[in-house]
Amino acid sequence: MNDLSALPDDFLWGAATAAYQIEGSADADGRAPSIWDTFAHTPGRVAGGDTGDTACDHYRRWPEDLGLMRRLGLGAYRFSIAWPRVVPLADGRVNPAGLDFYDRLVDALLAAGITPFPTLYHWDLPQAQQDRGGWPVRASAERFAEYTAVVAARLGDRVTHWATLNEPLCSAWIGHLDGAMAPGLTDLTAAVRASYHLHLAHGLAVQVLRESVRGAQIGIVNNLSTVEPASGSEADLAAAVRADGHINRWWLDPVLGRGYPADMLDAYGVELPVRDGDLELISAPLDWLGLNYYFRQIVADDPGAGPGPRFRQVPGPGPEHTAMPWEVHAPGLEELLLRLTDEYGVERIYVTENGSAYRDTVGPDGSVHDPERTAYLERHLAACARAVAKGAPLAGYFAWSLLDNFEWAYGYDKRFGLVHVDYATQQRTLKTSGRRYAELIAAHRAR
Ligand code: FCB
Repeated sequence: MNDLSALPDDFLWGAATAAYQIEGSADADGRAPSIWDTFAHTPGRVAGGDTGDTACDHYRRWPEDLGLMRRLGLGAYRFSIAWPRVVPLADGRVNPAGLDFYDRLVDALLAAGITPFPTLYHWDLPQAQQDRGGWPVRASAERFAEYTAVVAARLGDRVTHWATLNEPLCSAWIGHLDGAMAPGLTDLTAAVRASYHLHLAHGLAVQVLRESVRGAQIGIVNNLSTVEPASGSEADLAAAVRADGHINRWWLDPVLGRGYPADMLDAYGVELPVRDGDLELISAPLDWLGLNYYFRQIVADDPGAGPGPRFRQVPGPGPEHTAMPWEVHAPGLEELLLRLTDEYGVERIYVTENGSAYRDTVGPDGSVHDPERTAYLERHLAACARAVAKGAPLAGYFAWSLLDNFEWAYGYDKRFGLVHVDYATQQRTLKTSGRRYAELIAAHRAR
């Protein structure tokens, strides 16, 4: 049994999802397409031609999913609000029916004693906003602030914990530089401008939330990795510094008041469209920082790679890999929690995502036995406890994910859930890992 005794008494036990990955009902009640609808419906973009059209049908089955959260004993539920349900088009018109969905969900969560932990943006930019330039243009940040004001006005009387953005790294770098996520561009200038306007969107949203939600607890969610050089060569050591800049420092430094890293500004060679006051907005004080952790990055120099950070990731040397196939490396989570604590002085951290994909099968008796995911969960929670014992102000952990769901460009093939979803019947089955999580939560509460 892992020692979780260092976790604080009021530790928040949660699970996370995101709107486009679970909701389905893509054109219900006035929702308009997002960049992910467009991307998924473009042949060749998503494995198996999968789309989020139906996903887990959570938009209609959410009461059942809430029942699963209760069964797990969750204290908090991290979900995202779909901008294209709330302000579907570029004309700014609010769609009350879209808001109603989240209103009902929040009421039901509160009635069940589960703290709602919404994220305002988990990658589903309204396509209409993309058509006006998307994240590379400043107006998208301004529209995001308006959308935030609309959501805050409806939910702010009951919701205290707010995340502005989920993993802006993926929106900017994977969406605009690697091209593997919506909107599927491969353009360094667009990517750097997108990263800047995502930060600005965050800053503007913080301002709106501070003004409109009394006692708001506001944070941003970043996916960070520990970075190690593939060899001791000078070129690889330098590549590791650039990779750390690209993956970690670019996303932490401006938000935590250190400005943009000078070495990365040089590496990108793209001028940021900064206006007076922007950097103050971007670095406005936060109440917490969200850390999504999946794997470490081992990197080598890649001088031939186009402009930009010029490194390539090499496979992690550890013996275990998930179906992604990401290396299993729990010590990286402890390391990152301590880095945020010691180097950045962060005073409150949530692990807002952590989890693993494996090839689950449903047994003849209908059960789903997932020993590898169960071990992954236990080992990463133990890493959290070690970090807390060494001083990390970790306040909660959200397993990714409550349900198997639409895993972006990988489609439905990759299953991360504590709960198995049979997509043909929409039947939900709590996996062994879900049972184990429920036991750990209950044991922690009872101590
Ligand atoms: C993270 C995303 C989340 C999910 C997990 C596996 O990068 O935030 O939506 O796809 O990876």
